[in-house]
Amino acid sequence: MSKCRKPKTASARNSGARCQDWYKDAVIYQLHVRAFYDSNDDGVGDFCGLAQKLDYIKDLGVNAIWLLPFYESPLRDDGYDIADYQAINPAYGTLDDFREFVAAAHARGIRIIIELVVNHSSDQHPWFQRARNAPRGTPERDYYVWSDTGDEFEEARVIFLDSEVSNWSWDPVAKAYYWHRFYACQPDLNFDNPRVIGEIKEILKFWLDLGVDGFRLDAVPYLVERDGTNSENLRETHSLLKLIRAEVERHRPDAVLLAEANQPPENTLGYFGQGDECHMAFHFPLMPRLFMALAQEDRTPIVDIVEQTRSLPEGCQWALFLRNHDELTLEMVTAEERKYLWHVYATHRRLRINLGIRRRLATLLNGDRRRIELMNSLLFSLNGSPVTYYGDEIGMGDNPFLGDRDGVRTPMQWAADRNAGFSKADYVDLYLPPIEHRFFGYDIVNVDWIISVRRSHLAFARGDIAFLAPANPKILAYLRTLDDEILLCVANLSETAQAAELELGEWAGRVPVEMFGGCPFPAIRRAPYTITLPGHEFLWLKLFRAEQVDPARGVPHEAMDRPDLPAADKPVPPRPREKEAAPQQRQPSSRRE
Ligand code: GLC
Repeated sequence: MSKCRKPKTASARNSGARCQDWYKDAVIYQLHVRAFYDSNDDGVGDFCGLAQKLDYIKDLGVNAIWLLPFYESPLRDDGYDIADYQAINPAYGTLDDFREFVAAAHARGIRIIIELVVNHSSDQHPWFQRARNAPRGTPERDYYVWSDTGDEFEEARVIFLDSEVSNWSWDPVAKAYYWHRFYACQPDLNFDNPRVIGEIKEILKFWLDLGVDGFRLDAVPYLVERDGTNSENLRETHSLLKLIRAEVERHRPDAVLLAEANQPPENTLGYFGQGDECHMAFHFPLMPRLFMALAQEDRTPIVDIVEQTRSLPEGCQWALFLRNHDELTLEMVTAEERKYLWHVYATHRRLRINLGIRRRLATLLNGDRRRIELMNSLLFSLNGSPVTYYGDEIGMGDNPFLGDRDGVRTPMQWAADRNAGFSKADYVDLYLPPIEHRFFGYDIVNVDWIISVRRSHLAFARGDIAFLAPANPKILAYLRTLDDEILLCVANLSETAQAAELELGEWAGRVPVEMFGGCPFPAIRRAPYTITLPGHEFLWLKLFRAEQVDPARGVPHEAMDRPDLPAADKPVPPRPREKEAAPQQRQPSSRRE
């Protein structure tokens, strides 16, 4: 029985229309239950607490949540070491709490994506305990991958370079080596065993029956291993994914599969199959190049990679991201590029882990609000569905003194209150200490205004992308178009003011209207269109037909799809800071002054 307070609107299954490819319009918010809000004062966030904060998430403009693993686990890899795939970690609540949370999210039009972590389990999982005691050659033993010598699959790289020296570890009970691509406490499951595949089908059905809307497929390139290969992206792995896709579709045709495949572009693209594997994949090739372009003040890395990865099978969509719960991975850039990015973004060794950088967005960008907003403008306007990591929307900081990647997994900051408003527990009982840094937090930045404009323009989610090629390489400019919706995005990647001439002759006669304030710009003519931007600023312009725009008053706000803006003839309302009379317990607030 759930002990959560009943959410007010937990009745309807889904307020939005159900559409098969909803993920194309998704703005995804990634969060960890334990980090979000503690409802029972034990220092650990829980499902009841998360349900209480759903309105905050909805108000951000988010329509899908990706939950980090919340299953029974010894938490040696923060829940990615699962000991029971069908049970909730009791610290986070009960299955009933989960059910209520899903219903409350659906009632607000928010979908739920959970983790399918089946490359490996925890070594505490009963399957592993049974396997290590089972006689050789039995199906029970073969739930995992064993070896007498630990010599097989030698071409497979070690991923957790800072902690592991081999992908094989000795098990004294089994008297054999077992295979693991991550920590030694995470033995890899053996997908050559049909019983293991049967178990996966059970897990999928269990959670789909509970109403989840999709799965993030953790560590998906490594599912199958074969001698004589690097055991990544194998044909057998792709066959398995097709099978998972078919199984999911059989139960819920509108559920989404989202691949975590940190691979070179051609291999990452492989996870869409022919439109018969994953619906979405994280755009790992793009992510480091966004940071590279910013550091080098040059659009080339972004344009090159988007061009290489633009055509996807029908029904597929990239998931764009800047940061997540892991290190900012630099595994797939060249050694020289990695050295450069480390030099720019992680000068101190403490800020690095494995081949990446363990910092949050705001700290990576030195708390510089213009650069944080610029990077978010790219996240929310390039081709793909944006994924925002909890806390990054308010410029939350990190703590490099915590172990592993915990420094970017600290409690959400709700208020300038004890424990940042996350929990009423004693400080020492908190699962991790909140960030106490006056330069990083909810009063520094908030990106809800960007999300709201993105969501009201379908071309961002579903439109084509075409890059312009101004002579000034510091200016990144692209058009997002869908039918008659034409959006022009211009970003200045440089620290200093820049100008560029954009070839927009095709749109001569159209009037660009600034999308956040509604101000009309001079009409486009055949000649190049000059844009000037201060350092690290960006513009989003919607190109209207001339007859739609009143030169003095701009366009009606209905035409801008911005019902939140004041009507053109009404005075502008007071800005949030003036409106709020020093509230005691405020939510992270919206503003751009
Ligand atoms: C994925 C997760 C990471 C985890 C690893 C092993 O890469 O994102 O957090 O440690 O898989 O499960």
